[in-house]
Amino acid sequence: MSRCQYRVGFSQIKIHHKDVEKNIEKIERITKEKMFDLLVFPELSTTGYHFEKRKDLKKISLQKDDEIFDSLEKLCRDECKSVVFGFSEKDGENVYNSAMMITFEGKRYVYRKTHLFFKEKKLFDKGDSGFFVVKLKDINVGMMICFDWIFPEAARTLALKGAQLIAHPSNLVMPYCQNAMITRSLENRIFSITSNRIGREGDYNFTGKSQIVSSDGRIIHRAKSSTEEVFITYVDLKKAKNKKINDRNDLFKDRRNEFYVC
Ligand code: ACM
Repeated sequence: MSRCQYRVGFSQIKIHHKDVEKNIEKIERITKEKMFDLLVFPELSTTGYHFEKRKDLKKISLQKDDEIFDSLEKLCRDECKSVVFGFSEKDGENVYNSAMMITFEGKRYVYRKTHLFFKEKKLFDKGDSGFFVVKLKDINVGMMICFDWIFPEAARTLALKGAQLIAHPSNLVMPYCQNAMITRSLENRIFSITSNRIGREGDYNFTGKSQIVSSDGRIIHRAKSSTEEVFITYVDLKKAKNKKINDRNDLFKDRRNEFYVC
């Protein structure tokens, strides 16, 4: 097996509304039980999604260095695994809809959601981390969260920064994203893992159908809409380094920046 074959996947789960300890225990249990290099959990996996008041959400929001994550971090180090999960992040007076990557080396990276969806605008501050890429062994992984999918600039920026795989924690309520992510993968020649949740909170009905898409736009696997599933597979991530479409077209070299509006 070449060094670019990685075991990656998603964990499509139910989330216990407002029960942070139970949700983190569940992430830990799945991390312990399954064999993988990188596993992606849904958006806001620690708290659930539906809150009327920012102050209620803030009370159960966590800091990047919170000790509640210490045992998950130790597990990642001991078992040489990396995880990405969404959480509500508190930083001073601010609250962000964030995704944390805990790496197999025990490092914590936090991406703060750039494009807030609908009523998230009254709960969260706009993310200020920007898009960045983390090197995991010899692969480059970027993060974006749910509604970021509708802005093609998000995936494009990650691809231009060298991402071979996008980890995409989600709480999807509209039916379009999963198919759109096929295009995001294809137009950037990168792998993507959309990890969605299932179930209902308030008026929100989460659509499941978590998926892994290859760099040539193929759905490697798509889950069902309302059952829990942890899916892990080997992927050859070095394919995402090849931006050639044919002998005469290179996805990045053929770009015409002079005609694009920023
Ligand atoms: C969403 O961004 N959670 C739809």
